[in-house]
Amino acid sequence: MTKGSPFAVLIATAVTLSCSAPQPTPPDADVEARIDALLGQMTLEEKVGQMNQYSSFHDLTGPAPEEERARARLDDLKAGRVGSMLNVLGAEATRAAQKEAVEGSRLGIPLIFGYDVIHGYRTIFPVPLGEAASWDLEAIEASARVAATEAAAAGVHWTFAPMVDICRDARWGRIMEGAGEDPFLGARIAAARVRGFQGASLSDLDSIAACAKHYAAYGLAEGGRDYNTVDISEQTLRNVVLPPFHAAEEAGVATFMNSFNEIGGVPSTASVHLQREILKGEWGFEGFVVSDWGSIGELVAHGVAADLTQAAQLAVEAGSDMDMEAQAYVSHLVELVESGRVEEARVDDAVRRILRIKFALGLFDDPYRYSDSEREKALLLTEEHLAAARDVARKSIVLLKNEGGILPLEKGGTIAVIGPFAADKNAALGSWRGQAIPDSAVSLVEGIQAAVGSDATVLHAEGVPLIAGTQDFGAAPTFVEDDRSGFPAALDAARRADVVVLALGEGAFQSGEARSQADIGLKGLQDELLREVLAVNENVVVVLTAGRPLVITHVAGSAPAILNAWLLGSEAGHAIADVLFGDYNPSGKLPASFPRSVGQIPVYYAHKNTGRPATPGNVFSSRYIDMPNEPLYPFGYGLSYTTFEYSAPRLSAAEMTPGGSVEVTATVKNTGERVGTEVVQLYVRDLVGSVTRPVKELKGFRRVTLEPGESKDVSFTLEAPDLAFFTAEGKWEAEPGDFVAFVGPNSRDTQEAPFTLK
Ligand code: NOJ
Repeated sequence: MTKGSPFAVLIATAVTLSCSAPQPTPPDADVEARIDALLGQMTLEEKVGQMNQYSSFHDLTGPAPEEERARARLDDLKAGRVGSMLNVLGAEATRAAQKEAVEGSRLGIPLIFGYDVIHGYRTIFPVPLGEAASWDLEAIEASARVAATEAAAAGVHWTFAPMVDICRDARWGRIMEGAGEDPFLGARIAAARVRGFQGASLSDLDSIAACAKHYAAYGLAEGGRDYNTVDISEQTLRNVVLPPFHAAEEAGVATFMNSFNEIGGVPSTASVHLQREILKGEWGFEGFVVSDWGSIGELVAHGVAADLTQAAQLAVEAGSDMDMEAQAYVSHLVELVESGRVEEARVDDAVRRILRIKFALGLFDDPYRYSDSEREKALLLTEEHLAAARDVARKSIVLLKNEGGILPLEKGGTIAVIGPFAADKNAALGSWRGQAIPDSAVSLVEGIQAAVGSDATVLHAEGVPLIAGTQDFGAAPTFVEDDRSGFPAALDAARRADVVVLALGEGAFQSGEARSQADIGLKGLQDELLREVLAVNENVVVVLTAGRPLVITHVAGSAPAILNAWLLGSEAGHAIADVLFGDYNPSGKLPASFPRSVGQIPVYYAHKNTGRPATPGNVFSSRYIDMPNEPLYPFGYGLSYTTFEYSAPRLSAAEMTPGGSVEVTATVKNTGERVGTEVVQLYVRDLVGSVTRPVKELKGFRRVTLEPGESKDVSFTLEAPDLAFFTAEGKWEAEPGDFVAFVGPNSRDTQEAPFTLK
């Protein structure tokens, strides 16, 4: 645990840290002594109980449960055999469940209540991939702060967020829950979200414990298929997958969640290397690790455990401290310890970690402190929270194309808003939508109408429905493939309009857990609708709603303007209208590459050079013969309504000493006619390494706002630790040699300057 950790004062024991990590803060002896005293009073069964997490099993505020299972679980709660529950929601329900634990059990140890507060609790913010496109760490932190404030007021102590999985395959539905393809951007965002959720101190009533998940490499599943196998090198693990986890840990994250996948034959839940060696050993993490839902039980299906007993043994040995819903620990851990197969010290260590977080949250001082109906009524969905959601939503929008300056639109004339997402109030809420009110997002039609008032005529036609029936988390969507009955009305509106805003994309539950797609183009009849609309009116602005980068090569080849609007949350329609009419000049940049075709996947900017780098005209080089290697839109890409000109980067010195630094400066000028915000990006290439190095790696970024005609010098300071990586010798360090610094508006269009590390 590092300085700045909200519960750093509670941290015990010296730890081994990598050379660059800050020193741990000494433990709070008083709290550790209280934990010792408690452990001394606990039976083995009660200790194991702290390691058991159940999902909400019945309405604790209602009549006595009828089901036998629910009754058995309530008995477990009263007997001290449950340490945590998830999905118990609301001040009243959490108070009732807490009462069972505190007043019903022998030692009265409070429960910790967890919930998936992924992008808001009641006020819904853009999905995390969308927020990442803002590259605005303050706005992202503010979003997590609002989510924590609302969740805490509803009795939630702990969110299963941030998800910090690097993903380079947009087929994976869960790409929408993370910050995209890049470890540097991912690490900055991971830390910002931890700060936002946990606030200044975990003991504050508007702070909740965060959870870095899914540890590790869940986002690199083969074929982008959820829960699938991962087989990566230690180099990829350390250089690509782990940096955001390490950043979350350094920001003081209270908990980690392990992942469903295996890495090279070892499921993460049973991985000693990940949990004991790296997380709790090298990094000195003193919080606790929760399994993913049932992942301890899944060790049997993985084929590394013969039964649930062996699964429990493997998981506890590896350092999985809390069992989410597999019931492996509550059923078998006592017997494993009593028979000598698991040392009781393993159990004590896990319980100590869990109790630490409960102490840090103040639950031993007042177990009901979060469960306050008055606060709940006052703090959910306030004007202030909605304003914060609109702010980050408009910053998340990425302008992909704007041929002939068709955008921004005039607030006048006739505007036709067409497509399955024109009047939709559901998709923008996304998956993992907390306690959002159903169909509560501001639709695009509503947003546009509110923006133009009576100055323009707004026509609306759906054109085609995309998904048949109701959509929810529990079932895969069925796409409408043959209903063209809405075409005539849509084409009529398009003909009558000066401009068409065509709202295409994906529904709320096409991304998220278990929503991998082999085809990530536009589903149903959307392509046909686009073609027919363009045939009657060429002034078409396509607004894309989706939780992933889509394959839209044909859209980019035909429509003059494209806005990528992700799934933007409660204020979606207002935020999109702000951008459409130029009340906000778009500044978002892609946190993940947009492939030209699924066949390019995985496609990402920080690829290796290979021994035969792609060379035009040379067929025996590493390239496709039927399309370019490059994605349609690269990482870091996004346009503005103004234009920016970059100078070549200037270096303060051509050489860097190991303890020194080099300053990289570029002059950026607003050469257009509107004030605009640009995300200036710094990349580095390490030309020769003990292992091969990526052709470019992001090392810095800065948002700068420039008036028309204004120039600013934008500087970045590079030090040797910024150039460090996991070397052939297994050390995290920078290797002397030649480097190139690149500065530009995205990962592709950069200018460069060389330097040397001595
Ligand atoms: C399974 C998901 O993988 C995880 O991210 C989530 O936190 C848990 N379910 C609890 O809902």
